[in-house]
Amino acid sequence: MRTGIKVFAPATVANVGVGFDILGFALNEPGDEIVARFEGESGLKIGKITGAKGKLPYEIEKNTAGVAAQALLDAIDYKGEGISLEIRKKMPFSSGLGSSAASAVAGVMAVNELLKRPFEKRDLLHFAALGESIASGSYHLDNVAPSLLGGMILIRDSKSLDVHRIHTPRGLHVVVVYPEVSIHTKDARSMLKETISLNQHIKQSGNLAGFITGLFTSDIDLIKRSLQDVIIEDQRSHLIPNFKEIQSAAMKNGALGCTISGAGPSIFALCQSTFIAKNVEDALSNIYSESKVNFKIYSSPINNDGAIKF
Ligand code: HSE
Repeated sequence: MRTGIKVFAPATVANVGVGFDILGFALNEPGDEIVARFEGESGLKIGKITGAKGKLPYEIEKNTAGVAAQALLDAIDYKGEGISLEIRKKMPFSSGLGSSAASAVAGVMAVNELLKRPFEKRDLLHFAALGESIASGSYHLDNVAPSLLGGMILIRDSKSLDVHRIHTPRGLHVVVVYPEVSIHTKDARSMLKETISLNQHIKQSGNLAGFITGLFTSDIDLIKRSLQDVIIEDQRSHLIPNFKEIQSAAMKNGALGCTISGAGPSIFALCQSTFIAKNVEDALSNIYSESKVNFKIYSSPINNDGAIKF
């Protein structure tokens, strides 16, 4: 078997509380790995999947990595040697950590690297979003953009791929706890109300603007005052075990904010230092241990690299 190209694409926290569908950032871990290698005479196939407990399809058109990689090959009208993908699933499904997006990003980037970069990294965004959309049911970039590009990303407009990296203060650290219940993004979207009140709009716009200003100016107190979701959290948090208890423990232990990661059930707590993050991590672990909820916990700075070949 030929060696091939190996790519890692990280998990992401979408929405970030105040930016439903328009904000997301990348974590150092977990993430997915995909190896792309030349194999066979023509066409793209998924040759091997590990770590998915039989839950991922081998059919290209049903697999987020397959759809993303095929979209790239179609765009260049690829007629060369066959390409095989090996998907090493290393993160939980339906966890609110952008699992399908990480696979889509890793798949398309691995093929791009194998073909010696017909596209710049940033130009892979559309292909990755097409792949991710078969899992989430909509074309949104708040997981694929940070997973591909790294950092904190603002999506001003998905369709025109109008995405921007936002400065983040040094030292920010994130604790993400994943209680092992699964929430499908499609379901979590369909349960949202179609309308919001003017008051909610004003409050959330102030919070979003304050959060972004706080990030750019490293104003930690402004970040803390702003990181509050007045629209989505109330509509989804009942799906998440011990949500209020987790949130309140994170805040008591010094987090700048704590709310749902993506569509849930993962919860993230943004902290201003690794020291505070450690206290938050311990407090959240205790709550789920005492409640006998199976969980995984991750602690990470904001990952500024995004997907990498290694
Ligand atoms: N922003 C979307 C949502 C996708 O919350 O439904 C999150 O992965």
